[in-house]
Formats: sequence, structure tokens, C-alpha cells
Amino acid sequence: MTTATTAITNIGSLVTNDPSLGAGPLGLIQDAAVVVDGDRIAWVGASRKAPATDNAVDAAGRAALPGFVDSHSHLVFAGDRTAEFNARMSGQSYSAGGIRTTVAATRAATDEELEANLLRYVREALRQGTTTLETKSGYGLTTADEARALRIAAAHLDEVTYLGAHIVSPDYAADPEAYVALVTGEMLDACAPHARWVDVFCEKGAFDGDQARTILEAGRARGLTPRVHANQLGHGPGVQLAVELGAASADHCTHLTDADVDALAGGDTVATLLPGAEFSTRAQWPDARRLLDAGATVALSTDCNPGSSFTSSVPFCIALAVRDMGMTPDEAVWSATAGGAAALRRTDIGRVAPGARADVLLLDAPSHVHLAYRPGVPLVSAVWQRGVRVV
Ligand code: NIG
Ligand code: FE
Repeated sequence: MTTATTAITNIGSLVTNDPSLGAGPLGLIQDAAVVVDGDRIAWVGASRKAPATDNAVDAAGRAALPGFVDSHSHLVFAGDRTAEFNARMSGQSYSAGGIRTTVAATRAATDEELEANLLRYVREALRQGTTTLETKSGYGLTTADEARALRIAAAHLDEVTYLGAHIVSPDYAADPEAYVALVTGEMLDACAPHARWVDVFCEKGAFDGDQARTILEAGRARGLTPRVHANQLGHGPGVQLAVELGAASADHCTHLTDADVDALAGGDTVATLLPGAEFSTRAQWPDARRLLDAGATVALSTDCNPGSSFTSSVPFCIALAVRDMGMTPDEAVWSATAGGAAALRRTDIGRVAPGARADVLLLDAPSHVHLAYRPGVPLVSAVWQRGVRVV
């Protein structure tokens, strides 16, 4: 060991997500210790066998787990949509058209305002245990505004997604195909250097299946890997297109046919469920049980954005998924950690195992099950990110 080492000892119950290290799919170890060396995990095992280290932290029986991997958020924006939320809670339904309100506010904001807003939510998420966060453009919808959103995001986050195809820009309302040409042409040229992923909102009122295919294929030709907003507001071609194109994930998956479920179960595309959106739009819950029983890989994320899901809390989403989507607490915790890592095609995060990035949470609770059992309670009491104690 070359750098300063720290042992977290006396962990009552540790989720490793590595079945070779402990019991069941979560690889649970009781009375565990984790040794951190620099930004990596060096050792995991029984607390009484922990090797000598430079520093030690006594977890005093608390539970530990990998940092949450929130693989879906929209955090480069300005303004909020309180009035729209109020109207929804008085009976109006959600429509993608509300995105235009945030586009106008985002275009009018300075770079400094957008960056400060982004950092506010990144820190808010970190306090709740999110150590990896994906975020997207999509509230600029001009070449300059989309590129600046991605530049600002990429300055602070590793996982950045080009979503020029969030809705057809209001400037192109009369000619949507010209907007698709912009998104796949000049805008893509300006955005591709700042992003890892390309995403499309494939939905009635946004982009149809043919447009989505054109945009995802253009992004892929520029080295971006597809992910898709699919089947959120109704049935449609998004999920099957995502699987066909080998997208890393199909996100939302609220309205699925049997063929959609079969496609997800048979392909490499992760089904990313975003219950904050159904909560905040009073929509039907995605059926996680059906996906899991069919054999699909499921991730759980926040979708944090000012319109459809203004929560940065992965624990809240875990509680919703357990209460209303048919997931067990173990499944929900796996989906919010290892599932998110799978949706981002990452093997260095989402697990507490030798060689993995040292992203570890301590809960003020004896078990990870309390994340669902004690909804709304701020249980995350310590956070290490890349080996540094940040909370
Ligand atoms: O994932 N579905 C499209 N985009 C966001 C909503 C954005 C908004 O309403 O501002 C979502 O829910
Ligand atoms: Fe989204």
C-alpha cells in the first residue's frame, strides 16, 4: 500500500454487491470492515481480520453500502416550475410542453448561474449518498445553449449526455425535420466533444421512432453511446428501438407491452426506472416486478429536473420502488447502486470490492433495508467519494 490507508471497521451489515464476497446477490457481510487506499478499495472482509491501516473509523454497528449511482438527471437548468406542479396537484395532467418554460429560463441565464445551480444539486445529491451522477443537456435547444450546458456539466461530472432532442425547439415548431437536421448536424458537432452519451425523448409530443433512430444513429457515428427516454407517457417504439440499437439504457419504461418487456429481458439494455417522475406527475407506477421476473436488469434513478421530478434523493426513490413498484428492499438497493453502474456501463462503481472506486456510505441504521423501511428519514450519515470523506 502506497498512499494513506483508512479502515472503516465494525460495520454491522455491509452491502458489497459482489456475491463472491458475501451472502446473496448483495454479497452481504455482517461485522465487516472496508480498507480504503487512496481512491480505491483495497480490502473487504470480517472486521476482526482487517489489516493494520494508517487511520480507522469505527462504524459502531452501522450499515454500509456502495455510493448511489444516479444514472439519470437533468441538472443544467434555471428557474423552477412551482406553478406547473401546483396545477398538476389540482388535477391537471403532465405534458412535455412544460419543458419550454425551463428552456426559456435556461437560455436567459448566465453561465455562472447555470453552474451554481448545477453545483447546488450535485451537493444536495451527495449529502443523500449519490457519489456518481449522470446529467444531460436539453434545456437549451440551440447549438450554443446545448454546447454550453454540456461544457458546464462536463467541468464537474464524468457522465454527461447530449439531449438536444429533448423536445423540438420552439424556434422550429413549424419544421420539426429541420430541427432533427440541426440536432444531427451542427449541434452534434458542437456537443459531441463534451459528452459520452446521446439521448432522445421518444414520445408523442417530442420525437417519433424514425426521428429518434436518426438522432441516435448520428450520435453513435460521432462516438456517443445511445440511451433513450422511452415509454414514459404512453406506449411507443422507444424501448424496442433502444434494445435494437444496443442503447445502454431505456429510461422510464412506464408503459410497456409484453414485447417491450421481452426485448429488455433479451437484450443488453438496462431498464432505468424513475419513480420520482410518477410521484410528481401522479402517473401510474412502472412495474418493476414484471421486469425483474422477466429477467431484465433494472436501475433506479431520480430523473431530477424542475418539471417532472424535482427530487435529488435516491433514498426517496428506493422507498417508492419498494412501496409501489413491487421491488424488495434488496432489489431496490441493488438497482440504485449496481444497477445504475450497469446503466452507465461502469464496473468501477456500484460495488464495495477490492479494486473498485472507494465510494462508500454509512447509514445511521443497522441495515440497508431501513432505506425503504424509514422513508423520508435522512439516514446517510457519512459519505466517502474516491476515498475522501465528503459528508
Ligand atoms: O425525464 N421526459 C422528458 N424529460 C424529463 C422531463 C423534463 C421536464 O419536464 O422538464 C423527464 O421526465
Ligand atoms: Fe429524464
